[in-house]
Amino acid sequence: MCQSPKSIGIELMAAQAIELKKACVIGGSGFLASFLVKLLLQKGYAVNTTVRDPGNQKKITHLLALQSLGDLKVFKADLTDEASFDAPVAGCDLVFHVAAPVNFASEDPENDMIKPAIQGVVNVLKACVKAGSVKRVIFTSSAAAVTINELKGTGLIMDEGNWTDVEFLSSAKPPTWGYPVSKTLAEKEAWKFAEEKKIDLITVIPSLIAGPPLTPDVPSSVNLAMSLITGNEFLINGLKGMQMLAGSISITHVEDVCEAHIFLAEKKSASGRYICCAANTSVPDLANFLSKRYPDYKIPTEFEGFPSKAKLIISSEKLIKEGFNFKHGIEDIYDDALAYFKAKGLLQH
Ligand SMILES: NC(=O)c1ccc[n+]([C@@H]2O[C@H](COP(=O)([O-])OP(=O)(O)OC[C@H]3O[C@@H](n4cnc5c(N)ncnc54)[C@H](OP(=O)(O)O)[C@@H]3O)[C@@H](O)[C@H]2O)c1
Repeated sequence: MCQSPKSIGIELMAAQAIELKKACVIGGSGFLASFLVKLLLQKGYAVNTTVRDPGNQKKITHLLALQSLGDLKVFKADLTDEASFDAPVAGCDLVFHVAAPVNFASEDPENDMIKPAIQGVVNVLKACVKAGSVKRVIFTSSAAAVTINELKGTGLIMDEGNWTDVEFLSSAKPPTWGYPVSKTLAEKEAWKFAEEKKIDLITVIPSLIAGPPLTPDVPSSVNLAMSLITGNEFLINGLKGMQMLAGSISITHVEDVCEAHIFLAEKKSASGRYICCAANTSVPDLANFLSKRYPDYKIPTEFEGFPSKAKLIISSEKLIKEGFNFKHGIEDIYDDALAYFKAKGLLQH
């Protein structure tokens, strides 16, 4: 019997849908991961996600609310517990390893961040091998795994060929050094393991992420990005420290970072590392931009003795050449974050 073009079309669509049906998001309660879960559900994926403590209602209410959008199952798993990833990863086509131990105030970065991040990569990837169904793994790295070294000169361009200098960080130990070390070593471990076990791995390398979160608490990166508007001196110093260490203030909207994860998961030709960064600036340039855009706020614009320009830009050329379009520029990132702060009552007007 001959099939009509319409029924062939329907079958083709069904086959494509089946091809990318089920995704696992490791660490679903976090800022980036909860937004990613939302987009995956909206795109028709069935999603398994993991949290450390499913009994902690406060930490996962925003995640459970997403169950109204589609098939979302929440599992308990910890990066340090190898067997805990078997059940959530089983039967999945895609695995997004987003979770990371993030503790900037840690006095023991080795045990709080570096070891669990590396162990977590191995444990998640082992579960992917065991599952046998996983077609691609997308690991969330960070610009902190790319840009940090002694940074000699200005006008530098950093791309996927650059790696953060772990030896420099481990000996100089600047504030928050443990985080970039953990991200760099975890990503390197991911590449080593993937090569050994022939896993199709993509790493996404976001810069500072801001925009509107789904999480009940304001994520630390959003608080940091907003510090020039909120006037939090401690965090403004953190932003300055970021420019001194990483060479720039580079920033991206959370929606674009999530869309880039899904784009790279679905795009057959994608391979390797991908930087995802919408805008590169410096603290003084950002402050000038914000004070003009939001004149109602007292945004500091005098930074005597502080470098007015960024030393480098982090280039997303590879991602753009692959076909990805950034939807949000720096205006949207701040308009959306500001609207969120106002809605939460965190800013007066
Ligand atoms: N935000 C940024 O500006 C930025 C920039 C570049 C890259 N990144 C990367 O993006 C990813 C997400 O960051 P985020 O800002 O969304 O961070 P976040 O909100 O702090 O989320 C981190 C997640 O990791 C989970 N986690 C931490 N330790 C764990 C462990 N031992 N076992 C299992 N899960 C664990 C946390 O789970 P619990 O809920 O159980 O604590 C949380 O869900 C991270 O890999 C981060 O390095 C973030």
